[in-house]
Amino acid sequence: MTRTALITGATAGIGNAFARQLARRGTNLVIVARDTQRLEQLASDLSTTHRVDVEVVTADLATSEGMDRVADRLSESGRPIDLLVNNAGASLAGWFGTTAIADEDRQLDLLVRAPMHLMDAAIKSMSGRGRGGIINVASVAAFTPRGAYSAHKAWLVNISQWANWHYADVGITVQALCPGFTRTEFHQRMGAEIDSVPRWMWLKADAVVKGSLRDLERGKAVSVPSLRYKVLTSIARHAPTSVVANVAKRGR
Ligand SMILES: NC(=O)c1ccc[n+]([C@@H]2O[C@H](COP(=O)([O-])OP(=O)(O)OC[C@H]3O[C@@H](n4cnc5c(N)ncnc54)[C@H](OP(=O)(O)O)[C@@H]3O)[C@@H](O)[C@H]2O)c1
Repeated sequence: MTRTALITGATAGIGNAFARQLARRGTNLVIVARDTQRLEQLASDLSTTHRVDVEVVTADLATSEGMDRVADRLSESGRPIDLLVNNAGASLAGWFGTTAIADEDRQLDLLVRAPMHLMDAAIKSMSGRGRGGIINVASVAAFTPRGAYSAHKAWLVNISQWANWHYADVGITVQALCPGFTRTEFHQRMGAEIDSVPRWMWLKADAVVKGSLRDLERGKAVSVPSLRYKVLTSIARHAPTSVVANVAKRGR
């Protein structure tokens, strides 16, 4: 049973849906993001509605200081975390090679270094207790060659697949959650043009999270929510790179 979950990027979108669904199940939460006011509002809302403990940690996960603060919380043996949801993320509007390299560094820190540091702290702590779960929110973009964002998410999928197998014996389940287009604040924040994305391609954050938690109980290393994206990712994994890259060029 999950007693306490730590969720990064809990104030909006997919992370917010994780926070709400887990609180509804009676799970205590540690919620992480940069906007303290939004975090506190959510904590107050969830603790009142579901009678769970909600702790707020303000941290910018694109900085070493922010990563360390959250990793330290994961390492506290007196207040164990049973489930880590590495969810916080963002994307740049431009393609790699046209953006500022300093922005690419921040992206690498947020999408790869932060989940790596948090996973490391969680695995060390969970191994000692002989149980735990980690959900790494990747993307279906991991299965297509589409710039730096896809490459970062591919790293997350690859290490999750290995860790799920490698740490099964010590009771730790690791999952890469790979959603397709999901209605959140993500595209608006990056200033992306999304009018050309057909309606059938959009998922709801609640359904994404429900599928992920169900797959976690089943011990699945990769969770791709919805039949339509299961079919698309299966094609993407087997079709020639040039074909996939051409089709994938349009969005993120
Ligand atoms: N939406 C999609 O179509 C889609 C598809 C596939 C995968 N994903 C992935 O799903 C995850 C969640 O995205 P979302 O769609 O739910 O986006 P969202 O609605 O924009 O939410 C992003 C969350 O991450 C937090 N965050 C952003 N930068 C942060 C930083 N530097 N440090 C700490 N927290 C930070 C935000 O809070 P603050 O701004 O307060 O920090 C917010 O809570 C991401 O990893 C994304 O790559 C999204």
